[in-house]
Amino acid sequence: MSKLIAPSILAADFGNLQRDVEMVNSSDADWFHIDIMDGVFVPNISFGMPVLKAISSHAKKTIDVHLMIVDPDRYIKTFADLGADILTVHYEACTHLHRTIQAIKANGMKAGVALNPHTPISVLEETIIDLDLVCIMSVNPGFGGQSFIENTYKKVKQLKELITKTNSNTLIEIDGGVTNKNAKQLTEAGADVLVAGSYIFKSDNPTETIAGLKLLCN
Ligand code: DX5
Ligand code: ZN
Repeated sequence: MSKLIAPSILAADFGNLQRDVEMVNSSDADWFHIDIMDGVFVPNISFGMPVLKAISSHAKKTIDVHLMIVDPDRYIKTFADLGADILTVHYEACTHLHRTIQAIKANGMKAGVALNPHTPISVLEETIIDLDLVCIMSVNPGFGGQSFIENTYKKVKQLKELITKTNSNTLIEIDGGVTNKNAKQLTEAGADVLVAGSYIFKSDNPTETIAGLKLLCN
């Protein structure tokens, strides 16, 4: 399967949101990555439902929603109604992770789990078979524009081994500090989906930056 690029809308120009969504639509990007932060699970608040509704109304590609919120179960149906195709919750925010995964699927979405940098891959041994996606955080969640944590490569390899060993059908997504400097090494280690915010939207030509990233890892 070809490696996927998911621009993170957190780094877009919110004054020109429709323009930036259309740019992603007509680019080589595969998904929209949408970061929802509540100021409790992470020390920042991003944006909420009305903004996601506006994005969804223009987006023509898969909508990958990354919830950095406590008690995500409360909002599963809401995000399904808002057009999320994939809903990712944080392992660290879920007391009953298995139940949460089943609820996401019952609402017609693909289910993802994100792991903070300090959380080992081994915590997913019992749930990997049920997961459509695992998002390995390569920065501490909460902000765009942070530096990539090098220990991520090791975790990608460990997760790839777990997926192979259990014959699971799970995509490996990397989120945080992704650039042309680490994209190839990440996909070679087993990553399937690369999220990139600042590297794309702060570049002179985001469309070309996306094309370059796509080419680099395929
Ligand atoms: C961080 C978010 C990321 C972020 C990535 O908490 O989950 O998706 O937008 O941004 P960059 O690519 O700038 O690190
Ligand atoms: Zn994210």
